[in-house]
Amino acid sequence: MLVNATQMLKAAKKGHYGIAAFNTNDLEWTRSILLAAEATQSPVIIQCTSGAAKWQQGFKVVRDVVNDLVDYMNITVPVAMHLDHGTYEDCFKAIDAGFTSIMYDGSHEASFDINVEHTKELVKLAHSKGLSIEAEVGGIGGTEDGVTAQGELADPEECKAIADLGVDFLACGIGNIHGPYPANWAGLNFDQLAKIQALTGELPLVLHGGTGIPKEQVLKAVSLGVSKININTDLQLVFARTTREFVESGKDLEGKNYDPRKFLKPGFDAMQAKAESLIRDFGSDGKGWDF
Ligand code: 13P
Repeated sequence: MLVNATQMLKAAKKGHYGIAAFNTNDLEWTRSILLAAEATQSPVIIQCTSGAAKWQQGFKVVRDVVNDLVDYMNITVPVAMHLDHGTYEDCFKAIDAGFTSIMYDGSHEASFDINVEHTKELVKLAHSKGLSIEAEVGGIGGTEDGVTAQGELADPEECKAIADLGVDFLACGIGNIHGPYPANWAGLNFDQLAKIQALTGELPLVLHGGTGIPKEQVLKAVSLGVSKININTDLQLVFARTTREFVESGKDLEGKNYDPRKFLKPGFDAMQAKAESLIRDFGSDGKGWDF
């Protein structure tokens, strides 16, 4: 059974560890993530953007695949099905499809007031249906699903205003960006994070753009209130790199290795191994239903 992400993230905030939220691209992505969560006995959030949902033929397919795999694979750890960077309209579609958690990303709206209005309405709707909800203040740099924002630092007062609307966890820009980090990246801005945490108290904070942030920086962010760490590019990179190695070694030409079950397996195994290692880095291994 899928759960919402509220209790697992509250427990993470209290216990000073982070929970990985992995983006899924298809059934095999989901399977690798679930195997990693089960092997490490960690709670996990599987999330999907509207673009990745379109690729997989819609939110309902994504949700049903995750739900059915949890049953079929006898997954014993808590799994939340979360919408990543949803527009206002996406949130309604994900709720209808049976997601257990949504993110309304109002950071791209024409004004902060619109972000506030929509967040307020969606908090009410999500909670009336037992879902958790994430909101965002300050765009996250980089490009994801065609959405680009400069690496902003979220305004702590705006974070407090959105937190006070009753969201369950909050994404705030602290110099993080989606995708690989450029060589001249300045690193996370911990002063800004500390200011945000001081005004938002017990609310779990979300670190987007988790790929490529040095482990010490992630752990420092966790000590300053981050409880959810979003990972997308990392699994894509490891899958692509491993598949490339398989082809370049010529192994794809041996026997029946053209069969996708053989051709793609090294990439999927590598994704599972990467997900397991990130879960251990973030310290949620063994936390299972510890809430
Ligand atoms: P990365 O692709 O940089 O891991 O970021 C993922 C993310 O923040 C999803 O919202």
